[in-house]
Amino acid sequence: EVKEDTSLPEAKKMKLDNKDVQLRGAGTDKGSRVRVFGRVHRYRQQKGLVFITLRDGYGFMQCILQGDLAKSYDAITLQRESSMEIVGELAQVPEGAHAPDNRELHADYFKVLFKAPGGDDAITNKVQAKGDAQTLLDLRHLTLRGEVASNVMFVRDAVEFAFHQVYREVRCRKVSPPALVQTQVEGGATLFKFDYYGEQAFLTQSSQLYLETVLPSMGDVYCIEKSFRAEKSLTRRHLSEYTHVEAELDYITFDDLLVHLEEVMCRVIEITMSDPKIAAIIKELNPEFQMPQRPFMRMKYSEAIDWLVEHNIPNEEDQPHKFGDDIAEAAERRMTDIINRPIFLTHFPVEIKAFYMQKDKEDRRVTESVDCLMPGVGEIVGGSMRMDDYDELMAAYEREGIDPKPYYWYTDQRRYGSSPHGGYGLGLERFLAWLCKQHTVRDCCLYPRYMGRCTP
Ligand code: 4AD
Repeated sequence: EVKEDTSLPEAKKMKLDNKDVQLRGAGTDKGSRVRVFGRVHRYRQQKGLVFITLRDGYGFMQCILQGDLAKSYDAITLQRESSMEIVGELAQVPEGAHAPDNRELHADYFKVLFKAPGGDDAITNKVQAKGDAQTLLDLRHLTLRGEVASNVMFVRDAVEFAFHQVYREVRCRKVSPPALVQTQVEGGATLFKFDYYGEQAFLTQSSQLYLETVLPSMGDVYCIEKSFRAEKSLTRRHLSEYTHVEAELDYITFDDLLVHLEEVMCRVIEITMSDPKIAAIIKELNPEFQMPQRPFMRMKYSEAIDWLVEHNIPNEEDQPHKFGDDIAEAAERRMTDIINRPIFLTHFPVEIKAFYMQKDKEDRRVTESVDCLMPGVGEIVGGSMRMDDYDELMAAYEREGIDPKPYYWYTDQRRYGSSPHGGYGLGLERFLAWLCKQHTVRDCCLYPRYMGRCTP
């Protein structure tokens, strides 16, 4: 049992990333005495010393046990992920040695607060030995402690915060629409249905329709909420529950919408990168990352079809693409990867897009719609101008076989002072997969939900 020496100077409790401390050897022969808490990220025994890399979610710190501390039972039987308190003096690392932030804590006291198991149950055996993707997802609560997984979550935190900041800058107000709804937005095929006190209801596919209803009272609005899609295929970019960044803008043109989208995405990246710690993480995860150049490339759907034909990229039936085809995920990604820069793909045919999209005045076959495509991921944003005419909207419900009744509140927007307006939804996990160069969106959320997985 190790005892704390109470005659030593008081140790200040600190998070591991605190730089407001003195290091012995850095122009002074006395370092700050500090008290830190965290879990054992790594450790090794060497020449009678125990080197512990402690992790607290803010940073890492090398801590060294020596003498009696190193020989104590708790030090000898230490396991990774044990939770600890360590007290000691901070020093600069010796020449030629490496440690986080170039410093190390020379412990004069430590205590294991909660032990983690060793042997077969040791975290390294659980997580690393059986490293197939499904096992790792079953153990997501533990794999999240790893450096790559937690780095992606740090970027996610920064990006989400940056969106809020940017929407403030461009004067969009935040609202929080309901998740339990009785209307579809993006087609019946991907609706999650459930029983709502005896009535049928759905988990929302998008907050768009609700955002449209507050334009007259709040001006431009946005929300960052969960959307739900019963996707019946397993791809690397589809989740059943994802975080949807959506905005709706009043009295705009289609071109205004595109310029706003470029502005928001680029400003979000600028703000995210302005935090040196986050910028360093992104550099590590995605060394080739480059700030996208504005304006983004604009390409009409019909031009994309021509491009796909010229480049011999077939459609899903293995035939050359023709006008009216849905551009499938594989073809879209190949095109985006070859062009290798952000693309605004615009003017999709009416038939392959949602009921609410405004038709192009010059070409009634197509809509004022946009998908933003990013190299490595493909579509990360879907947006459009919205039908603002009452009769046209009623005809669109009819065309899609949608009963207009539950949509009365949406339709009313066209009766009580309609306006030219539009908006978009951005999939946060897809944005992160692009920014952090992750193979799948599953690694860009805390606990992914997709067909076959609703745990942990
Ligand atoms: O293109 P979508 O379906 O558009 C809408 O839902 C519009 N109502 C949004 C709006 O205009 N307010 O979805 C928008 C974005 C996609 O570009 C994609 O990034 C993401 O949402 N997304 C998904 N992300 C992960 N898993 C899924 N199953 C997704 N479905 C859509």
